[in-house]
Amino acid sequence: MPVTYKKIGVLAGGLSAEREVSLKTGGAIYNALKGLGYNVCLIDAGKDLAETIKKENVEAAFIALHGGHGEDGSIQGLLEVAGVPYTGSGVLASALAMDKEFSKRMFREQGLPAPEGVTLGKNEFLKAGGILDMELDFAPLPWVVKPVTEGSSIGVSMVGRREELAPALEKAFLLSGRVIVERRVLGKEVQVGILGGRVLGSVEIRPSLDFYSYEAKYTGGKTRYILPPEVDAKHLEEAHRVGLAAHKALGCRGATRVDLILDPGLRPWVLEVNTIPGMTETSLLPKIAKQYGLDFPALVEEILKEALEG
Ligand SMILES: Nc1ncnc2c1ncn2[C@@H]1O[C@H](COP(=O)(O)OP(=O)(O)O)[C@@H](O)[C@H]1O
Ligand SMILES: [Mg+2]
Repeated sequence: MPVTYKKIGVLAGGLSAEREVSLKTGGAIYNALKGLGYNVCLIDAGKDLAETIKKENVEAAFIALHGGHGEDGSIQGLLEVAGVPYTGSGVLASALAMDKEFSKRMFREQGLPAPEGVTLGKNEFLKAGGILDMELDFAPLPWVVKPVTEGSSIGVSMVGRREELAPALEKAFLLSGRVIVERRVLGKEVQVGILGGRVLGSVEIRPSLDFYSYEAKYTGGKTRYILPPEVDAKHLEEAHRVGLAAHKALGCRGATRVDLILDPGLRPWVLEVNTIPGMTETSLLPKIAKQYGLDFPALVEEILKEALEG
């Protein structure tokens, strides 16, 4: 039995670089809701979104957008103004999670372990003619360079030697006005799945490449996913605790996936919170949920329920 007879718009596609992944996520969610008997329509979230929502009489929105305005709080703000309840995090939490500089501040303020780092502005970088005499003594090498507001590992570089820094910064500044240089934590990558304020479980990521790059994420066979992670119960519990605390530190709602690295002592370090996790049937959150006992349609329905409850 559907929990609502309201018309649900699945917002997918959109204008970001992650449009294709979003269309897959949106299609999977649409099919699941349809199968459960919901009154649902699929909407390509373009510039005319406000009019489309009105025209289609959308009464609740399932946001299946990745990156850009779909994830940074903008679409959430538009839906707030239109009075349409929506899935996932609100305006502020979405904006914070999308911004790696500000989310790091929130994590650290809550006493959560986030790798030490500095944020550089593009103007500063250009003024220096790309030559960096700025102090980067926050941590010894290796470092990671990443654009503040991208996803999917786009523009992320590992810097093992000082001379690799300038090209890494140049690449990242093409994508974002602010770039983070942070300490690279070597260790096990673990992602924690969260729904409705509880931990569903986690997955260990074992890329065959140097790190979990765009290529490692989206080329079949380049990464092994281990469920549950091969980590002893005590340390895994601590990783779950930190994952949930990171979700709460940003004020997130609904489903999120928190990226962590466990250092050689298995201490978890928070990288980021993903407020709109991939939701194709083979994505990580659905895999974690399945282990927890929620199949794909049940997961979709739980996410929807939380949006309607507000
Ligand atoms: N501080 C870090 N230490 C080690 N690896 C990192 C660090 N930051 C990022 N990475 C690697 O880069 C990948 C992408 O970084 P992340 O911060 O999750 O950004 P996004 O996924 O939004 O592009 C991570 O999954 C991880 O493999
Ligand atoms: Mg990530």
